[in-house]
Amino acid sequence: MEIEGKTVLLTGATGGLGRTMALRLAGAGATLIVSGRKKDALTELVDQLPGSGHSIAVCDLGQPDAAARLAATLGPVDCLVANAALPATGRLTDLSEEQVARMLRVNLESPILLTQALLPGMLDRGRGKVVMIGSLAGKAGSPRSSVYNATKFGLRGFVFGLAGDLVGTGVGASVVAPGFVSEAGMFADSGAKAPASIGTATPSQVADAVVKAIAGEKIEIIVAPVKGRAMAHIALASPSLSHRMQSGSAGQKTADIVAKGQLDKR
Ligand SMILES: NC(=O)c1ccc[n+]([C@@H]2O[C@H](COP(=O)([O-])OP(=O)(O)OC[C@H]3O[C@@H](n4cnc5c(N)ncnc54)[C@H](OP(=O)(O)O)[C@@H]3O)[C@@H](O)[C@H]2O)c1
Repeated sequence: MEIEGKTVLLTGATGGLGRTMALRLAGAGATLIVSGRKKDALTELVDQLPGSGHSIAVCDLGQPDAAARLAATLGPVDCLVANAALPATGRLTDLSEEQVARMLRVNLESPILLTQALLPGMLDRGRGKVVMIGSLAGKAGSPRSSVYNATKFGLRGFVFGLAGDLVGTGVGASVVAPGFVSEAGMFADSGAKAPASIGTATPSQVADAVVKAIAGEKIEIIVAPVKGRAMAHIALASPSLSHRMQSGSAGQKTADIVAKGQLDKR
C-alpha cells in the first residue's frame, strides 16, 4: 500500500521505537493517529511530526473493551501499526494474576481486537494494511519471558492465519519482528547488554521495516543482525537445543538483569 496520504493508527507511539516509527511514517506522507496512555507526551510528539492533520488518541489498552472503544472514536483508518506492548518479563510465579492479564491484553488481545474493529472498513474500501510489531521472542523462547513469548508467538500466528483470510481483498497483514534493539525502547531502557552472539538492531531499522511492511507484501520481516536471525531460526527448529544454549549461568544472569530493569513496566 502506498503510504502517502493514508491514515495510520500507531499504538505505543510515545515509546522508544514508536517515536521513530511516527517520524518515519509522517515523513513518508502518512496522516498519523498516535495512541498511548500519556496525553502530554502524545501532544508533544504530534508537534514534532512533519506534515499536517495528525491527531492523538489517548487510550489504556490494558482496560477491557479499550480496543473497540478506541476504534469507535476514529474515522476511516487505512493502516494499523499495533506497536504498544509491555515487556512482560519475570518468572510466572513472581507475577500477579492482574499483571499477567494486563500483559496478555496489551500485547495480544488488544492488537487482535483493534484489527477486528478496523478490518471491516478496510475491506469495504478494498485497501488496507495491518502491521503487528512482534519480536524474535515470537520465534525463540527465553528465560524470564514466558508471558512475553506467549504474546509474541501469538501475534505471529495471528498474522499468518489472517493473511490467508485476506487473499484477494486488497488488505494485507504483516508482522515486523525485531531482535534486541539498542538506543531506545524496552530493552535499552532495562540497562542490560545484548549477548554478543545475537547483536542488536536500531530503532531506525525497525521503522524502515514498518515502512517496508506497509508498502510491500512480505508477511514477516525480521529486524536483527544475521547472527540473531540464525539463533532465532535454530530456536524455532530445535527448542531443546535453544533451551540448552540459554540455560547456562550467563543466559540466566542476562535474563535476570533484563527482567529487573523492566520491573517498572509491569
Ligand atoms: N525494544 C526492543 O528491544 C524490542 C525488541 C523486539 C520487539 N519490540 C517490540 O517493539 C514494540 C515497541 O516497544 P518499545 O521498545 O518501543 O517499548 P517501550 O519504549 O516500552 O514503549 C511501549 C509503548 O507501549 C505503550 N503502552 C504500554 N502499555 C500500554 C497500555 N496499557 N495502553 C496503551 N499503550 C501502552 C507505551 O505508551 P504509554 O506508556 O504512553 O502508554 C509506549 O508508547 C513492542 O511491541 C515490543 O514488544 C521491542
